[in-house]
Amino acid sequence: PLRLDIKRKLTARSDRVKSVDLHPSEPWMLASLYNGSVCVWNHETQVTSRPYVFQLHMFEAHSDYIRCIAVHPTQPYILTNDMLIKLWDWEKKWSCSQVFEGHTHYVMQIVFNPKDNNQFASASLDRTIKVWQLGSSSPNFTLEGHDKGVNCIDYYSGGDKPYLISGADDRLVKIWDYQNKTCVQTLEGHAQNVSCVNFHPELPIIITGSEDGTVRIWHSSTYRLESTLNYGMERVWCVCGLRGSNSVALGYDEGSIIIKLGREEPAMSMDTSGKIIWAKHSEIQQANLKAMGDAEIKDGERLPLAVKDMGSCEIYPQTLQHNPNGRFVVVCGDGEYIIYTAMALRNKSFGSAQEFVWAHDSSEYAIRESSSVVKIFKNFKEKKSFKPDFGAEGIYGGFLLGVRSVNGLAFYDWDNTELIRRIEIQPKHIFWSDSGELVCIATEESFFILRYLSEKVAASQESNEGVTEDGVEDAFEVQGEIQEVVKTGLWVGDCFIYTSSVNRLNYFVGGEIVTIAHLDRTMYLLGYIPKDDRLYLGDKELNIVSYSLLVSVLEYQTAVMRRDFGMADKVLPTIPKEQRTRVAHFLEKQGFKQQALAVSTDPEHRFELALQLGELKIAYQLAVEAESEQKWKQLAELAISKCQFGLAQECLHHAQDYGGLLLLATASGNAAMVAKLAEGAERDGKNNVAFMTYFLQGK
Ligand SMILES: *[C@@H]1O[C@H](CO)[C@@H](O)[C@H](O)[C@H]1NC(C)=O
Ligand SMILES: *[C@@H]1O[C@H](CO)[C@@H](O)[C@H](O)[C@H]1NC(C)=O
Ligand SMILES: *[C@@H]1O[C@H](CO)[C@@H](O)[C@H](O)[C@H]1NC(C)=O
Ligand SMILES: *[C@@H]1O[C@H](CO)[C@@H](O)[C@H](O)[C@H]1NC(C)=O
Ligand SMILES: *[C@@H]1O[C@H](CO)[C@@H](O)[C@H](O)[C@H]1NC(C)=O
Repeated sequence: PLRLDIKRKLTARSDRVKSVDLHPSEPWMLASLYNGSVCVWNHETQVTSRPYVFQLHMFEAHSDYIRCIAVHPTQPYILTNDMLIKLWDWEKKWSCSQVFEGHTHYVMQIVFNPKDNNQFASASLDRTIKVWQLGSSSPNFTLEGHDKGVNCIDYYSGGDKPYLISGADDRLVKIWDYQNKTCVQTLEGHAQNVSCVNFHPELPIIITGSEDGTVRIWHSSTYRLESTLNYGMERVWCVCGLRGSNSVALGYDEGSIIIKLGREEPAMSMDTSGKIIWAKHSEIQQANLKAMGDAEIKDGERLPLAVKDMGSCEIYPQTLQHNPNGRFVVVCGDGEYIIYTAMALRNKSFGSAQEFVWAHDSSEYAIRESSSVVKIFKNFKEKKSFKPDFGAEGIYGGFLLGVRSVNGLAFYDWDNTELIRRIEIQPKHIFWSDSGELVCIATEESFFILRYLSEKVAASQESNEGVTEDGVEDAFEVQGEIQEVVKTGLWVGDCFIYTSSVNRLNYFVGGEIVTIAHLDRTMYLLGYIPKDDRLYLGDKELNIVSYSLLVSVLEYQTAVMRRDFGMADKVLPTIPKEQRTRVAHFLEKQGFKQQALAVSTDPEHRFELALQLGELKIAYQLAVEAESEQKWKQLAELAISKCQFGLAQECLHHAQDYGGLLLLATASGNAAMVAKLAEGAERDGKNNVAFMTYFLQGK
């Protein structure tokens, strides 16, 4: 299926709508009503104009109803019809310059051929379709096949197929090849007269509307029914799609509707050097981050990228994915895949597949041929075909080949398709880190971070110990489960960066989640370029934005997670001062307080750490700098617990903690201290302490 996401954008109630049109640049829909009025709706603001009645020129053209008008795309001509079709030239005072005769019943619709402006086709209640040439009053040829009157007709505008589509009162839709004059396909499904048909000018779909109240969307190459829309507005009379737009206007007995057809997830991929390829409908386009030069980039802002057209794809791309080294890109859609060279978009290999995944090794990939067969290819040659034990409902690429079935997830070795481990989980996505040591398995509710223990797997396979029918028991070690839904993700070192279902851009490292940004819409991660210290994301409208994320911080955190403090110390100087405290908090959470104290630049944080570590000297220094009573009190407490009474006394003094000083002085039997305290307390008006100290001295 096309996975089209259909959303209703506007519902406009009115009298019966007989024709709708979308403005090519403004967000306007024009609806002409059966009662003679014309309305214009703004589908962004949902505001309507008052009904218009236009009259620029009026003339009597036919003796019966006029059912359709067609305007020539370039010449000053319009065609009108009852049983005859008449051509009017508005530059010659609207004179009738030609009459086309041949139909034996009312003509319902006329359309010009977008690929040949001198040709037009007509649909008639005499059950035929006729194709005409301007300049010749009799039809060029007639297409027969419908059993009842034909109401509507449209030309296919894309590609090279010489096709016409028609809909009739026999409830059928027919696709015709007008070169060899045969009916190529009949679409059955509507339960009543078909009133409108449309080859969408951009999307690979056919839209048909019927008096049964439904609009049906069919795939224009496979002719499969993709969806049936019923908005309960009674009979459907007209449909209009627009080039360059995903909006489709529909006219009904009770008003009009605009729907938006889109893809949830854009077909888009970036290689490690910053070249981005995406599919805009069937056209492949490329943009290069490097070509932006040194332009100032702000977080979350749309990047000013120059877009290059790469040509069109033979299938309608639903996904697009670079291989790990970026030399190839695979396009998948409609049960087919094509592997292209990423530079010139030359096809390298193709075939049928339900799904396609790249291996970690750039020369390998797997396809899911059916719900039971998976095939592995190396250097574009089939290496192995196998039937996973419980079937294959989905496959996942990366370090190991993942296969999903009703029974859960099974990981296989790419080389020999041996089962490594079966896990009871229903994954949505799987993301492997570059080293193959960590993997994120994302489900509908949460995600798990697992460590893959390749040495244990090798040892078990060698000795055959710890191997069950579910594979190697110790193959994975759970590092954490996080109750968040991952939409897209990628690894940089041991840091897992992801977008969540609530549009947050986060990363996970060592049990901690850091939020990089709150996104204002759904975004899809494309990749991370360490050289730029930036993360790149795309949205449904193919805009690219970026967010700053320092590679030094990620590297440092990765080194810490690997307990590689030699590496961490090497990276540290490259971390800017303002990021040090964040890193220090991370170290503290990992239990490395000493290192955190060394790294942190925030006095508060450092003081906290110094206290926890019992570092009296450092804490003292920080208390002096901070001049805060609270700090002196905390430090006094620590000093007392360490029997550093001299220091404690000084701290209590700074803290003006007379109660504390009294306790210290009396407990240590220090008469001189009591005397000094009495004077100080009296001076500061601390009468209780002053009284007690004088009393104790017998004064
Ligand atoms: C036709 O219908 C529209 C909306 O339903 C209404 O606003 C308009 O007044 C009607 N026009 C006539 C001529 O009846
Ligand atoms: C259709 O009309 C064109 C132009 O008049 C003519 O060249 C062509 O031969 C005609 N084809 C048929 C099948 O009549
Ligand atoms: C007419 O052309 C279509 C392809 O457009 C082909 O499928 C069909 O078989 C052809 N029919 C005849 C009778 O040549
Ligand atoms: C379908 O068209 C026929 C004429 O072919 C007409 O009699 C019938 O009323 C139409 N159906 C509906 C539901 O209007
Ligand atoms: C691949 O390219 C060849 C030659 O350029 C072409 O004939 C073929 O149709 C292409 N196939 C696909 C599936 O793109």
